Amino acid sequence: MDNIKAVILAAGLGTRMKSDIPKVLHPAGSGTMLGEIVGSLKEAGIKDIVVVVGYGAGLVRDAFAGEGLCFVEQKELLGSGDALKCAVEAMGDLTGHVLVTCGDTPLITADTYKRLIRGHAEGNASCTLLTCGMEDPSSYGRIVRDERGNIRKIVEEKDAADEEKKIREVNAGTYGFRGAELREFIRDIEINAKKKEFYLTDMADILARNGKKVLSEPCPPDEALGVNSRKDLAVVNRILNQRVIERLMGSGVTIIDPATTYIDKSAVIEKDTTILPCTVIKPGVTIASGCRIGPFARLRPGTTLSRGVEIGNFVELCRTEIGENTKVKHHTYLGDTVVGSNVNIGAGTITANYDGEKKARTVIKDRAFIGVGVILIAPVEIGREARVGAGSVVTKNRNVPDGETVVGIPARPLKKS
Ligand code: UD1
Ligand code: CA
Repeated sequence: MDNIKAVILAAGLGTRMKSDIPKVLHPAGSGTMLGEIVGSLKEAGIKDIVVVVGYGAGLVRDAFAGEGLCFVEQKELLGSGDALKCAVEAMGDLTGHVLVTCGDTPLITADTYKRLIRGHAEGNASCTLLTCGMEDPSSYGRIVRDERGNIRKIVEEKDAADEEKKIREVNAGTYGFRGAELREFIRDIEINAKKKEFYLTDMADILARNGKKVLSEPCPPDEALGVNSRKDLAVVNRILNQRVIERLMGSGVTIIDPATTYIDKSAVIEKDTTILPCTVIKPGVTIASGCRIGPFARLRPGTTLSRGVEIGNFVELCRTEIGENTKVKHHTYLGDTVVGSNVNIGAGTITANYDGEKKARTVIKDRAFIGVGVILIAPVEIGREARVGAGSVVTKNRNVPDGETVVGIPARPLKKS
């Protein structure tokens, strides 16, 4: 999509978050709220993205350096209308359309952005508002329509008359504008007497009064949620997680308890794998089919499981590959480890992969058997079909040859009688 530019309004203070961190940098999904929004806009095919920054501007710029975004600073936080004016002044050519969205609505999907753009273009409108029916509309601007159903204006809660407060249709804070008209009419926004702010929402009234076409496009209610507090943030994260889980269940993964299972959207999990409750699966983890994970397992980035692997309770894996049909069932930490197939890792096994300065690798080959309570000090290799006795400590570089049994601290070959 070449004739469309996007503006994300992200300068606000986020007072109700009660935080020193800019609101848009709070965690959502795999990254931050702003990251989710940028990701969805890019997925919708928008390449030209302007972010209006203000509070904590430096932090936001640093967090998104190298992402190809253009930053515009709003020096004084004079409201959403002023924020967009700053962007419009800094943007060159505005012959196409401008999609404006808020930095605190991270649930809007690429599909919805695409639908808004399509509706805006096909409706030949000056402005198209993303709107939605809300059970509790109290923290949103209401869409006021005339008797023929045409949009007249948006009225904020603080300025709404009692009748207007009853309106359930709200402004999701995302808009399509025709660039040239945006530039022409944004100057007409006047300061709101009560809030001493310039409201972007006044554009609807201004355009309608000037005989311009203002349309709406429906937004699914679970996408419109704007994050104003930590409570809203928790709801957003639950919904983002739910989306990942529903997609995985749809592709044949069994998830016993979606409410206590946390899976990053970039994780790849094949069908007929079962995820038991209270399991956390981080970015980039890949799990083949027929595995059984959890309960209470934590799979961190760089973890790859082959088919038929069983990972049990209180097991943490980090940068670790596990071969087919291997079992790691209880109270174990494996980091920077390559484990072969049909290996059994006993309860309480720990790889000591970090010596305080650098990380080192552990290799455990096919059909090895590691007893309970073993410590493997990396770098070290355990050979094929080798056995390590319960409670042993295998010290670094003391590789165990194929078929050997070692025991003790430090582990030594078992004397044959
Ligand atoms: C805004 C809308 C409201 C809509 C809701 C949707 C206005 C006046 N109201 O209300 O109709 O229902 O979003 O979530 O726009 N911002 C700046 N600079 C500023 C002030 C705000 O960049 O000076 C940014 C904020 O970072 C935020 C966005 O604009 O991303 C909206 O501001 P916010 O204060 O959250 O507005 P709401 O009261 O939620
Ligand atoms: Ca908001």
